[in-house]
Amino acid sequence: MTTMNQHFLELQGSYLFSEVAKRRTKYMEQNPQADVISLGIGDVTRGLPQAVIKAMHAAVDDMVNVETFKGYGPEQGYSFLINEIIANDYKARGVELNTDEVFLSDGSKCDVGNIQEIFSTDSIVAVQDPVYPVYVDTNVMAGRAGTFITNIGRYEKIVYLDCSAKNDFKPSLPTEKVDLIYLCYPNNPTGMTLTKEELKVWVDYAIENDCIILFDSAYEAFITEDNVPHSIYEIEGAKKVAIEFRSFSKTAGFTGIRCAYTVVPKEIQGRDVNGNAVSVNELWNRRHTTKFNGVSYVTQKGAEAIYSTEGKAQIRELVDYYMTNAAMIREGLREAGFSVFGGVNAPYIWLKTPEGYNSWSFFDYLLSEANIVGTPGVGFGQCGEGYFRLTAFGSRENTERAIARIKQLSL
Ligand code: MLT
Repeated sequence: MTTMNQHFLELQGSYLFSEVAKRRTKYMEQNPQADVISLGIGDVTRGLPQAVIKAMHAAVDDMVNVETFKGYGPEQGYSFLINEIIANDYKARGVELNTDEVFLSDGSKCDVGNIQEIFSTDSIVAVQDPVYPVYVDTNVMAGRAGTFITNIGRYEKIVYLDCSAKNDFKPSLPTEKVDLIYLCYPNNPTGMTLTKEELKVWVDYAIENDCIILFDSAYEAFITEDNVPHSIYEIEGAKKVAIEFRSFSKTAGFTGIRCAYTVVPKEIQGRDVNGNAVSVNELWNRRHTTKFNGVSYVTQKGAEAIYSTEGKAQIRELVDYYMTNAAMIREGLREAGFSVFGGVNAPYIWLKTPEGYNSWSFFDYLLSEANIVGTPGVGFGQCGEGYFRLTAFGSRENTERAIARIKQLSL
């Protein structure tokens, strides 16, 4: 028999959202009459903006004519989209980027999962806890996490940065030497944010301690408050130490279409085993061109349309729709007596489970008593135990019905 990759065998259970989906499906099979409302995985429910649809239709027509047909495109993405990204998402916020610092892909999940490949397997990884599980699992697969310590529910070699209500879900700096720090802001799952001053502390730390920040800002479009940075590059010096991940999934309804991008500034340097400087950008480019053949032309034309005047207005409407849901969930849960976090600058609402319930028992209770699917906080890490996440990505009607059901529960 062929020997399997032992690192993969260190993974715990199944991927969180697959497990949630499995339990939901089982419940629905056993209770076919149940009217289940899903506020679990953060998947969008509104249709694509009209500007995107129009652009994608036109792009399909381009593929019919020999003169405009497109085969393989650049692995990094077409310049028509990269230029819009740089002008609108960065230059407009005072950040200068070159076109070869932006890499398009088919999703941030893939990019945040793949990025670790270019770093040494000896690198020490720090993650927030609770954390988007992809950061941890992909490092487990790479052999960077060591073994899982069952009684504490953590991997031996990962540095966990605890986040709880006590520190307002804002982690302290690591107390030991780390090489890679995953930060996610606005945060998934807690929905919390850092101010510019707070993020600067991390950038300064990374500069002083020679480490790299992997900054996931997939939920940037949902920021409503001033002084919450939209990009880590708004912080001075960040281009030397940070890689940023952005996605069109939640902003533009692209979870099924697939398009995201990663910014790898040329200023970031790593080193080889002899201590010689290595360009992180060049190595990521090497990896990307080897393993990825580009986002489809039709998809990129759709993404480009997001930056048109019409597209921008439609995206704003989409984001506002979900953030109205977020406000309704937040207020509704408060009225029902829950302690609630997030939901102001992010489409996630993080709540404390009621007395006597842990994350999974509350999941089961909510599913059976209110037919609502959420995500158990412990699925994001030990610090998530006793918490629960609801998403604002449902339809308005389902969001209203879910809150009405929760208010009826006798907790
Ligand atoms: C989530 O629910 O946390 C996200 O939708 C998962 C993802 O984007 O992969």
